[in-house]
Amino acid sequence: MAQNRVGVIGFPVEHSLSPIMHNAAFEALQMRDWHYDAMSIPPDILRLGLREPKNHGYIGINVTVPHKEAIMEFVRPDDRARAIGAVNTVDFRSNIGTNTDADGLIGDLHAHQIPLSGERVLVLGAGGASRAAVYGLSREGARIAIVNRTKSRAYGLVEQLKISAGVEGLDVLTLDEAADWGMSLIVNCTSVGLHPHINQTPWIHGLPFPDGVTVYDMVYRPANTALMQQCLAHGGRAIGGLGMLTRQGAIAFELWTGVEPPLDVMYGALQTALETSE
Ligand code: ATR
Repeated sequence: MAQNRVGVIGFPVEHSLSPIMHNAAFEALQMRDWHYDAMSIPPDILRLGLREPKNHGYIGINVTVPHKEAIMEFVRPDDRARAIGAVNTVDFRSNIGTNTDADGLIGDLHAHQIPLSGERVLVLGAGGASRAAVYGLSREGARIAIVNRTKSRAYGLVEQLKISAGVEGLDVLTLDEAADWGMSLIVNCTSVGLHPHINQTPWIHGLPFPDGVTVYDMVYRPANTALMQQCLAHGGRAIGGLGMLTRQGAIAFELWTGVEPPLDVMYGALQTALETSE
C-alpha cells in the first residue's frame, strides 16, 4: 500500500476527476509510494470525518463541494483562503488550508497569453468560483465587473472581497449593461452550460454578443460550451476550463510532494477521462 496518501473530500465525490489526474501524475513520475483517492464525507459530520484521513496519515487533501467554506474552521486558512473565503487544499503536516483556484485560473490565462493588467474583465457569477476569479484577476490589475442572476449576491461578493482582501473598484452590472461595457475578456464562473444542459448559456440568446472578445469558460464539460460557440461566432477567442482544473490540481500536487507537476500528463488524463465518459 502507498505510504504517502492524498485525496479529495466531498459529498458526493464519486464523480471527481482529481484521482485520475493525480494518480496519472504519480504513475508518470514513478512515484509508486504515492496514491490519491476520493472520500465521501457528509456535511453534518465534517469535523469527525476529517479524523479519518488524518489518523490514516494522509499528507493532505483537496476539498470540494460542499465543504470548501465549512472546512475553514477546522484548518489554518492562509491569507489567500481567507480572502477568497474557501479552502480547496489542505496540508495536514501544517494543517494549513489554502485555495489554488485563483492561481489555477490566472496561470492558465497567462499560459494562453491573455492580457489582464489594465484590461476590462467581465466575471459571470457570484459563487465561490467567482470569488477566486475576482481575487486573482484583481491582483493582476484587471478592471472587473460582475454580472450575476441574483444581483444581491454580486453585491455581497464585492463587500466580502473589500473586507477580506481590500479589493476596491469592482462594478456590478446587469447583462444588458455588460454588453456595452467594452471588456476584452469574459470569465464564466457560473455552472450554466455544464453537461447535460449543453445548450444553455449565461449570455442569454437574443442579447447581442460583443465582437472579438475572449471567453474563458470554467465549464470544461462539454469541451466546447454554448457560450464558447457564441464567442467564436462573433470573431472571438474561446478557452475551456480544463487547463484551470489541471493547474489548480498541479499546485496542490507540488505543495504535497515538492515535485514539479507533469502538467501535460495531468491535462491529458483529464481529457481522456472526459472523452471516454461522453
Ligand atoms: P461555485 O462554488 O462553483 O461558484 P455556486 O456558489 O453554487 O457554485 O455558484 C453558482 C453560480 O452560478 C452563481 O453565480 C449562480 O447564480 P445565482 O447566484 O443567481 O444562483 C450561477 N447560476 C447557476 N445556475 C444559473 C442559471 N441557470 N442562470 C444563471 N446563473 C446561474
